[in-house]
Amino acid sequence: MTPEQRAAFFTVHRDLPREGPGTPQDVQWALDQLGLTGALDVLDAACGPGADLETLARALPDARITGMEKVQHFVAAARARVAPFGPRVTAIEADMSALDGSYDLIWCAGALYFLGVTEGLQGWRSALNPGGAVAFSEPVLPDTPPGDAVMAFWQEYPQITDLNGIRARVTAAGYNVQAHRMIVGAPWEAYYTPVQARIDMLRGQNPDAALRAALDENQQEIDRWRAAPDQIAYALVIATPV
Ligand SMILES: C[S@@+](CC[C@H](N)C(=O)[O-])C[C@H]1O[C@@H](n2cnc3c(N)ncnc32)[C@H](O)[C@@H]1O
Repeated sequence: MTPEQRAAFFTVHRDLPREGPGTPQDVQWALDQLGLTGALDVLDAACGPGADLETLARALPDARITGMEKVQHFVAAARARVAPFGPRVTAIEADMSALDGSYDLIWCAGALYFLGVTEGLQGWRSALNPGGAVAFSEPVLPDTPPGDAVMAFWQEYPQITDLNGIRARVTAAGYNVQAHRMIVGAPWEAYYTPVQARIDMLRGQNPDAALRAALDENQQEIDRWRAAPDQIAYALVIATPV
């Protein structure tokens, strides 16, 4: 990506409530599965603008919670969002590939694929407290053979697998899949609705060539999702070290 393309991408991806599909109910489901309460240490790895950081802060009132993110304006958005919770909830600009804290839960929505599922889980193992877990959402193919529309949507992520493939990558990292659930349909609509509004707004502001290209690319992603909304999914996976 050239600097102009990167700037245009982040002009589109700014002032959005979140940067990928997921809901507060998904966060709560993971906490319930793990029975997590009390004075825990929690990391939201790649927290984006902080939607799940805020949910974690509400759901775990006694926990110390850190959001980690490498894009500065997402860090600023996340910080503003969790300011009402005081110093127990923070957002820092840092690279999630090198963790030096110790956590009871590492939450990672739609970002572990940047490290690779197996590689990321292996790298995070030493940052988990005894009994700790990683909860992550990951692109997943349907059980039935995926059609052209599904493959077109995921064409920039050739490493994608079905759920069995995710299980194999988790196992290869030395973890078990404790539980999983699908993120499909409504959470994607809820993610794309503000992205579409932002595309429409920016198109009305005489965008330059780089921004027009970014707007076209984002529009294509939404249109491709609309072609197979019941088959384009993330799996939310709870992984615990063996
Ligand atoms: C699809 S977005 C998801 C953001 C957020 N979890 C959410 O659901 O709104 C992926 C995020 O991963 C961040 N990211 C990618 N690689 C990273 C790294 N090595 N360290 C920290 N953040 C990273 C990106 O900047 C981006 O905000």
